[in-house]
Formats: sequence, C-alpha cells, structure tokens
Amino acid sequence: MILYVNSCVRKNSRTDRLAKALLNRLGEYEEIRLTDLKQAPLNEKRLVHRTEQIDKQNFDDEIFEPARQFAGADIIVISAPYWDGSFPAILKTYLENIYCIGVVTGYDEHGMPVGMCRAEKLYYVTTAGGNYDRRFSYDYIEYLTKNMFGISDTELVYAENLDMEGNDAEVILDDAVTKYLTGSSGKA
Ligand SMILES: Cc1cc2nc3c(=O)[nH]c(=O)nc-3n(C[C@H](O)[C@H](O)[C@H](O)COP(=O)(O)O)c2cc1C
Repeated sequence: MILYVNSCVRKNSRTDRLAKALLNRLGEYEEIRLTDLKQAPLNEKRLVHRTEQIDKQNFDDEIFEPARQFAGADIIVISAPYWDGSFPAILKTYLENIYCIGVVTGYDEHGMPVGMCRAEKLYYVTTAGGNYDRRFSYDYIEYLTKNMFGISDTELVYAENLDMEGNDAEVILDDAVTKYLTGSSGKA
C-alpha cells in the first residue's frame, strides 16, 4: 500500500500538485489529509493513556491507528509546504502521534532504536516561496525515517523560488512536475 500523508493546508496547494504528479507515477495510493484528521498534540491525559497501552502491549487501541497505518505502508509520500523554515504544525502533530514505541520503532538489547516500519522508501515533497533550506524539514524527516523508523531510502522532491518577484510559479512547478514524472533531475 502506498500511503500519502498530505500536510498541505491551502486550497489548490502547489505542493499537493507536485506530490500528485509523483503519486501518479508510483500507482494507487491511500491518502490521509492531515487537515481533516482528528488529531491533537499529545496532552498529559493522552500521553498517560498511550504509555499505559504500550506497557500492556495493547497495540489494538485506537490511539495507535495512524501509527499502525504508517508502519504497514510499502511506500510513504509526505507532502508539506515550506513554512517558517520548516513545515506546518499539523505534520509535527502527526509525527508526534505516530511515533509509538512498539509500533513504528523499538529498542534493541543495547537500547538502540530499531525501526519497525515496512516501507522500502519515503518521499518528502515540498515547495518553497524562496530558496529551500532542507535543514529543519527534509533533514529532520530523513533523520527520523532512517534512524527511528527503519526506512533506509528517502528522497526529497521539491520546487523552490515560487514566490520570488519576476518568477512564474506555474512554469517552475510545471517544470518540476515534468522532471519528476519522467524521473529525471531535481532530486537532492
Ligand atoms: C504560513 C506560511 C509560511 C511560509 N514560510 C515560508 C518560508 O519560511 N520560506 C519560504 O521560502 N517560503 C515560505 N512560505 C511560502 C510557501 O513556501 C510557498 O508559497 C509554497 O509554495 C506554498 O505551498 P502550497 O501552495 O502547497 O501551500 C510560507 C507560506 C506560508 C503560507
């Protein structure tokens, strides 16, 4: 199953358009729109509940549903516009909610993280108004994905400078879409 984690907020999102171009190349997919998902940052009550379920190894609890879906996907595509040098808070909330020990990650006998996700690859798709600096978005996602989730292959798909004066955002985006549809260049 290909899982599309859509963190785009705006109607007619350009990031979503770029992600859909990639997804059309990859095949059928299941989409979760984070703007529609009933999720909240962990508060003390939910954190206590979650910890109790983890202690009981009760991973059927509904609190683990998004984590189970993430862990079971064969390919994951995350889309997120470049916001404030990073990505929208709904994506951080999602990551906080799926990051469950015993579902997406575990520890070996030396206390080192061992990934439990089956996906062979995770794509991170973004678009930026100015220059794209990957440090606080793609690099962070790649860090979690490779070190904690056990997904060894990640790829950045992006278009940048869309809001720069004198630039034609449509042309830049169409160019990126064409590149990714044909699978050539534009990759980091
Ligand atoms: C709340 C917000 C924060 C943004 N922050 C940045 C930023 O830090 N750097 C940048 O280059 N562009 C920034 N932008 C511009 C977006 O990255 C750019 O317009 C992007 O293509 C939007 O993607 P979307 O069409 O998928 O919403 C921001 C836009 C919004 C709405």
